[in-house]
Parts: sequence; C-alpha cells; structure tokens
Amino acid sequence: MELKGKVALVTGGGRGIGQGIALALAGAGADVAVADLDQAIAEETAAKVEAAGRRSVAISVNVAQPDSVRAMVEKVEAELGGLDIAVNNAGIISIQSIEELTAEDFDRIMAVNAKGVFLCTQAAVRVMRPRRWGRIINVASIAGKIGFPDLSHYTASKFAVIGFTNAVAKEVALDGITVNALCPGIVGTGMWRGEDGLAGRWREEGESEEASWARHQKTLLPQGVAQTPEDMGQLAVYLACAEHVTGQAIAVDGGCTL
Ligand code: NAI
Repeated sequence: MELKGKVALVTGGGRGIGQGIALALAGAGADVAVADLDQAIAEETAAKVEAAGRRSVAISVNVAQPDSVRAMVEKVEAELGGLDIAVNNAGIISIQSIEELTAEDFDRIMAVNAKGVFLCTQAAVRVMRPRRWGRIINVASIAGKIGFPDLSHYTASKFAVIGFTNAVAKEVALDGITVNALCPGIVGTGMWRGEDGLAGRWREEGESEEASWARHQKTLLPQGVAQTPEDMGQLAVYLACAEHVTGQAIAVDGGCTL
C-alpha cells in the first residue's frame, strides 16, 4: 500500500491513537500534518514524521471551534500543498452515571467528538470535492456500536459519528471521496491508563490501576489483550488506499463487539 505524494492530516495526533495513525501514514509514504489542542505534543509527533523522511507541520487546533478548524485546513494546504486524507481522531471521554451527567458535560463531549468530526469533515470535503479524490477516516469507537454504562454521553457521541459517516459517504460517493469510521476497541493510551484514565477510575476496592487494566482486557476482550495505536494505523493506511470501501464502521477490537 502506497501513499507517496498524498497529504494527510490527523487531529489529536500529538499522542495515543492519533500518533500511531500519523506514523503509519508516514510509513506508507504520506506527508502528514499533525494537529492537536496541545501544540507541544503535536510538534513531537511532527518531528517523528520528519524523522521517517516525510514532510510534516504541527498545528494547534480546537476541533470544536469552526474558525480554528478552518485555519487548520488552510495551514495544511499552505504548508503541504493540499489535503488528500483527513483523519478526524481527536476525542475526549468522561465517566458519569446518567443521574450525575450534567447538560454541560453532555455538550462538552458532543462538541469535541461529534461536532468536531462534522467540522473537520466539512472542511476536508470543501478541499477534496473540487479535486475529485479524498479519504476521510472518522475515529469512532466500539462505543459507536454498543452502549457502555456510565458512558451514555460518550456512547451517544460515537453513535453520532457512525451515522454521520454513513450519510456523508453517500453524499460524496460520486466525487472520488470515501468516508469511513474506524472503531478502536481498548487501547492503552491516556484515555485508559493512569489514575484519571478508565482503568484508574473503574478500580475495584483495593485494586491497583495496573490490575484494573489487566482485568478489563480479560473481561471485555475475547482475545484477552488490548489493541495498539499501531493496529489502528494499519487500518487507517488500508482505508486511505482502498477505493471501494465507503460508509463502513470497522472495528479493530479483538472481538469485543462480537
Ligand atoms: P488520548 O487522550 O490519548 O489522545 C487524544 C488526543 O486528542 C490528545 O492529544 C488531545 O490533546 C487531543 N484533543 C482532545 N481534545 C481536542 C480538541 N478539542 N481539539 C484538538 N485535539 C484535541 O486518546 P486516544 O485513546 O488516543 O483517543 C483517540 C480517539 O480514539 C478518540 O476519538 C477516542 O474517543 C477514540 N477511542 C479510543 C479508545 C481507547 O481505548 N483509547 C477506544 C475507542 C475509541
């Protein structure tokens, strides 16, 4: 699979799954713009892309803000000469029971996970449609396929991403643009690990964070082990190359949603 001459953009690319996807796309030959709320970590990933022999640019963005998204895409075009592959990966999570979930928290999660994907997809299509080629990869979740307790707001945001992906895929199908959702299962990034991650928050009495992480892998995943950012990178490269796969929501989840 070959992406030489293509320009990719990965939001939330400063760490975790976004970084894995950015490096996989660079490994397949693409130049990769790395955008993140945190400019410093975007620069770290951009340096890794350059170390792999590809061009890169680090961009500070808040995907929930229309002006910020517009400026991000303008910068990618100005610095790297176009936009062929948009990976809309930035996302956030919080754990709240349905009783404690506030309207503000619901809005905050939806603003980044759902509205952010809308704004980034819209900005990408505006560049791709006139060029009659494009690949849009929206990072959803297994929570876009099945519900998880205490994550009703996050689940709603990821179901929204999959429905949106399906609709836009049909809208742009005649224009050489594919739109797919990539659904990670359980990946040991900042979202899961540490005291504030899901493994830290979902501990049983007296359980260490490490033990909680091991337990969740065993109980939630038929294969018993977490997926990696590199696993997500492999599917992203495939979707960036594939011509006739569109409107799909593909899980890389070790069988979690079976
Ligand atoms: P992470 O927390 O390690 O990385 C997320 C990145 O997004 C961070 O670099 C953060 O600075 C950036 N970000 C957050 N809000 C932003 C905003 N408003 N604008 C721009 N950048 C922003 O998380 P991880 O695990 O790498 O998650 C990436 C995506 O994968 C998310 O959409 C998440 O929902 C999804 N996912 C993750 C799973 C996991 O097990 N880690 C499972 C299923 C889905």
